[in-house]
Amino acid sequence: MKLGIISALHEEQAGIVEAMSGATRHVHGMRDYWSGRLGDTETVCVLSRIGKVAAAMTAVTLVERFQATHIVFTGVAGGGNPGVKVGDIVIAESLVQYDMDASPLFPRFEVPLTGLSHFPSDTKLSSALARAAQDFVDQDFEKVIDIAERRDFSLVAPRVHRGLIGSGDQFISSRQRLLTLSEALPGLLAVEMEGAAVAQVCFELGVPFAVVRTISDNANEEAATDFMRFVKSVAAIYSRRVVLRLSRA
Ligand code: ADE
Repeated sequence: MKLGIISALHEEQAGIVEAMSGATRHVHGMRDYWSGRLGDTETVCVLSRIGKVAAAMTAVTLVERFQATHIVFTGVAGGGNPGVKVGDIVIAESLVQYDMDASPLFPRFEVPLTGLSHFPSDTKLSSALARAAQDFVDQDFEKVIDIAERRDFSLVAPRVHRGLIGSGDQFISSRQRLLTLSEALPGLLAVEMEGAAVAQVCFELGVPFAVVRTISDNANEEAATDFMRFVKSVAAIYSRRVVLRLSRA
């Protein structure tokens, strides 16, 4: 197994490269790919930057150039419904590109000529990630609350959810827009800007993948402020601890 780990932003992956042994930098396509070992797992870490094209380009490169056999995307997302709170962790069971609409040629959300609108994540990898996330919540969270408080951020113990994530080339910051989307996509748990693009690439290349997202905001009018604060203060703690637990599993 060779694990590819993608995040859009530095803060979503901070500390993971530092935890690798023998990390070596390879520059390709305006990105830094760090290869080495995370625990016993051969790993390549990379920042994709934001958006579906950026994420797709990065996922293809991980597989074709760096021979990644499995991919995990870790980062933050906006909550997709009121039951999903800031600080909760969402593991994708499937992902949809909510801005894909080639109707009336194809049904809304369907990616033309794949026959799919919802791309399923790998069950085994996603279950391992969900276990890692739950262990993090059960065993590390007291410490995380203390660290967050020192950064003036108050957190409560998160819930781990599994279900549908929607991706699109938009930062959602409108209650009404989110409501419209969640009505069109029953079960929507989170919105972000990369996961479903990675899902399509992995589906087409036959590579198992999983996506974990910590909720940074409620995708409402306060989303931009909440997002910035969450990313600057605490996002890295979640990603690093969950991914390190996964690599030890
Ligand atoms: N990532 C984190 N919050 C988001 C939001 N509200 N919309 C899109 N992507 C996000």
